[in-house]
Amino acid sequence: MKTRVVENMGKYTGQVLEEIYSQEVIENRVEELAKQISTEYAGRVPILIGVLNGSVFFLADLAKRLEIDCEIDFIKVSSYHSGTQSSGTVRLLKDISCIITDRDVIIVEDIIDSGLTARFLKHRILENQPNSVAFASLLFKRECLKLEFEAEYVGFEVADRFLVGYGLDLDQKFRNLPSIWAFPLNMNL
Ligand code: IMP
Ligand code: MG
Repeated sequence: MKTRVVENMGKYTGQVLEEIYSQEVIENRVEELAKQISTEYAGRVPILIGVLNGSVFFLADLAKRLEIDCEIDFIKVSSYHSGTQSSGTVRLLKDISCIITDRDVIIVEDIIDSGLTARFLKHRILENQPNSVAFASLLFKRECLKLEFEAEYVGFEVADRFLVGYGLDLDQKFRNLPSIWAFPLNMNL
């Protein structure tokens, strides 16, 4: 098991992170999802809507592996003020810029935790009357859901631990790690 020690991050300094999904494991799973989407969207040109900032690595890798044409756009919302605690409310910070009416939309997220962000995004996209909306999330903390939500494409179902890397951040740090790391279990972040 690979580990790394957090440096220069105030109260998080000294915490030991464990690698839970290596680059290779992520790559293989993203490839499988891309194959599945390519089959299910054959003959269509879906618009992938990446949720900034966390989804950018997943979206880029997924899009590169699709065997069908797609378009790409972004939306930005905020639900976390800082640290690891959700504020419970979701705010739209940047809207999509493409026209999605009658189009097939796939919302691309890094992780579903409480499900509040996912529900907000789905409602926001549905307001523009797309032909279809699906949700692709690399990670899904199913046990943390506070409402009913299903994602059509999920990379990995994960336990309730705080994760960083491959787009996921803690106070904007660790996003650029190429694999996914977990903070210790039972740690009060
Ligand atoms: P939700 O609205 O509670 O489902 O939270 C979704 C958002 O919270 C994600 O898009 C992430 O930005 C963030 N988030 C939730 N869990 C984690 C985590 O373990 N690490 C980093 N960010 C997380
Ligand atoms: Mg996010």
